[in-house]
Amino acid sequence: MKFSLKVCAPAELAADVLAVSVAADGAFSACLAALDAVSGGFFAAQRDAGNFPPKDGVSRLFVNVPNVAASRVVVVRHDGTDAALERATATVQALADESGWGKVGLLLGDGAHAADVMARAAAYAAYRFDAFKSDAGKARKHEWLFVCDHPEKAGVQAALELAHAWALGSAFTRDLVNMPPNVCTPAWLGEQAKALAKAYAPLSVNVLKRKEIEALGMGALLGVAQGSANEPRFIVFEHHPANAQNAQPFVLVGKGVTFDTGGISIKPSAAMDEMKGDMGGAAAVFGALKALCEAELPLYVVGLVAAVENMPDGNAIRPGDILTSMSGKTVEVLNTDAEGRLILCDALTYAARYKPQAVIDMATLTGAMVVALGGVRSGLFANDDALADALFAAGEAARDLAWKMPLDPAYRDMLKSPFADLPNISGSREAGAVTAAAFLSAFVDYPWAHLDIAGSAFKGSTPKGGTGRPVGLLLEFFRNKVV
Ligand code: BES
Ligand code: MN
Ligand code: ZN
Repeated sequence: MKFSLKVCAPAELAADVLAVSVAADGAFSACLAALDAVSGGFFAAQRDAGNFPPKDGVSRLFVNVPNVAASRVVVVRHDGTDAALERATATVQALADESGWGKVGLLLGDGAHAADVMARAAAYAAYRFDAFKSDAGKARKHEWLFVCDHPEKAGVQAALELAHAWALGSAFTRDLVNMPPNVCTPAWLGEQAKALAKAYAPLSVNVLKRKEIEALGMGALLGVAQGSANEPRFIVFEHHPANAQNAQPFVLVGKGVTFDTGGISIKPSAAMDEMKGDMGGAAAVFGALKALCEAELPLYVVGLVAAVENMPDGNAIRPGDILTSMSGKTVEVLNTDAEGRLILCDALTYAARYKPQAVIDMATLTGAMVVALGGVRSGLFANDDALADALFAAGEAARDLAWKMPLDPAYRDMLKSPFADLPNISGSREAGAVTAAAFLSAFVDYPWAHLDIAGSAFKGSTPKGGTGRPVGLLLEFFRNKVV
């Protein structure tokens, strides 16, 4: 996957196909008008003959267009909104895929913002996870061409470079999420972490094993891990470039449950395969760090990943067990399926040692979040309004949406245990995503935000699998921190 900016007229672009747009009312885009002019009114004649505009989202293919260098021209109708431009790009991508066209000119919109929308939509649609198919690696590799010959071209180039960093980071997140849980174990994630750190100079990593995790006193994390034959890992990344602008780091924390059976509070079997995606928060830490490295952002960012597998076993934790977390707080486990908060509370305690500027955790934490917001927006909880606002705005700008959720003390009051400092679930099913966030809030004493990505990180239907979210939101948040 490659994005290239060409400084030429649309008609001069050498490509297998040139994708241009027409408005709903049939009005030609500037690019289509230019092609029409050089071709001696080819497209006006096609319109007059009733050959377009097509219906919304449908394309028309033209060949042998006079004086146009590209082998083909595809005209797609869209109404100019970002969502329509994304759909139009995906339509072109699918056509290019099935037709075997490699060089695709994306001229469906003009300027830096349109280039950003098209580049990301093309990369998203072109993504394939075929590592376990016998015809692996056969998918067509595209080169996406963009045209700009006016003063905005520096802006277009910058947008393409950032989109490329996002594309590599979010595709990595998707790969990790899609990886089967017999391969993607905590130890395997640790190996991936080492490989990632090796690939980028500003990135280093320390992968802690059970003994070191024990020495840290992470009793809640270890409690979840004890039912699995796959040993836990605690991964500590540091992205610390020489030109870092911030002394106090941002810390990303990811829930890395490589498979969540529910443990002794076992889940029903329907769709349980999707619980391979319960390390989506961890995968977002990996992907965000990769994007940060690719974009060469001068920021000190720490990434923490708590990696465990939640299994039922003779040695597994039981409802009623009391675990002592790294913070010293004791937790009564009333439901072993509320394991994400148990591993995160220890990771959040660990994060405090960095005296962080802000900590952002990401977790596929609750089914209640899926019920509340579905896959459209991630749930955004925070103890700091400025941090919440910055994350919300980053989500809007990157089209990786979030929605602010409450954290009133009254939700924290719903967590009461007669035997320990707090229980891992509240006594009712009400506000399940909020009480989970409230549990986490008991372990933080710094500016903190929690993204519940249970609905947004994984899609159950076509294309089934990881979405790469919220890497776009994070990259935009960090880009805004660079002065
Ligand atoms: N990993 C799940 C949450 C989840 C559900 C993620 C659906 C993605 C899709 C989490 O560990 C879990 O099981 N949460 C429980 C909490 C409950 C026991 C309080 C849930 O949401 O049912
Ligand atoms: Mn669970
Ligand atoms: Zn889980």
